[in-house]
Amino acid sequence: MAQIVGSICTSHVPAIGNAIARGLQNDPYWKPFFDGFAPVRQWLDRVRPDVVVAFYNDHGLNFFLDKMPTFAVGAAPAYSNDDEGWGIPVSIPVDGAQALSWHVIEALVSSDFDITMCQEMLLDHAVMVPFQLCWPSAQTWPVRIVPIAINTVQHPLPNPQRCLALGRAVNRALRSWAGGERIVVMGTGGLSHQLEGRRAGHINKDYDRFCLDNLKDHPEALTSHSTLDIVELAGSQGVEVLNWIAARGALGDTALSEVTRTYHIPISNTAAAVQVLETREPAYSR
Ligand code: DHB
Ligand code: FE
Repeated sequence: MAQIVGSICTSHVPAIGNAIARGLQNDPYWKPFFDGFAPVRQWLDRVRPDVVVAFYNDHGLNFFLDKMPTFAVGAAPAYSNDDEGWGIPVSIPVDGAQALSWHVIEALVSSDFDITMCQEMLLDHAVMVPFQLCWPSAQTWPVRIVPIAINTVQHPLPNPQRCLALGRAVNRALRSWAGGERIVVMGTGGLSHQLEGRRAGHINKDYDRFCLDNLKDHPEALTSHSTLDIVELAGSQGVEVLNWIAARGALGDTALSEVTRTYHIPISNTAAAVQVLETREPAYSR
């Protein structure tokens, strides 16, 4: 059985990618943010994952407003990155965990999730910025990926209960996978932010704190607001927290401990946060 070792939920602000490209990690503005990833990397060194199951939202690189799946699962042998306009250098491709992707797709469709399956998929900053934060000096990525895109862009968006249920269905799929991989779940985006209109720059510390405080032990609390309530509370892009909710579902019902959390505001227009949760499953040693 595959081992789900924990989750990394993190913002994916493109400005972070630009700061990495310009080597600004020790700049006074950026240092507290980048320092927040040292414990994340120490944890990754300890748990040594083979596969990342990444819940994220595409920002117009792979899907556009004309064709927008609510949930899409990648099943490609490899995924190229491209820049949809932020000026971030293009990263090396990520290998796909292709057989596991098909297993997840089979399991989701049998559990009544009518997902879109993608045998080709481009990954945008929502995956590549978190990867660069986790493995800053990688020449090749040390993990393979199962990317799961959730529509947080073109309304109507899925509701939080459905995203939690999607994550839980992915958890059941991972637990029924015969391979011995160590799997880290990722949820990217958020926390509160709004990029456009009169509320551009909107940040809601209270709501962000509520999410960070409840995700581990009370994920249902995050489903007590409708998606439109979350837009109101957290901003039109703060609704990317749906990816965090799905990632939490993919950890299942096992006991969890919090490894680290950082909340750093603002980065660009976003309340940037990272939180690592670890499962207390049987020891995973190589
Ligand atoms: C910003 C945040 C995002 O999540 C994103 O996808 C693009 C931009 C920002 O705050 O600039
Ligand atoms: Fe985003």
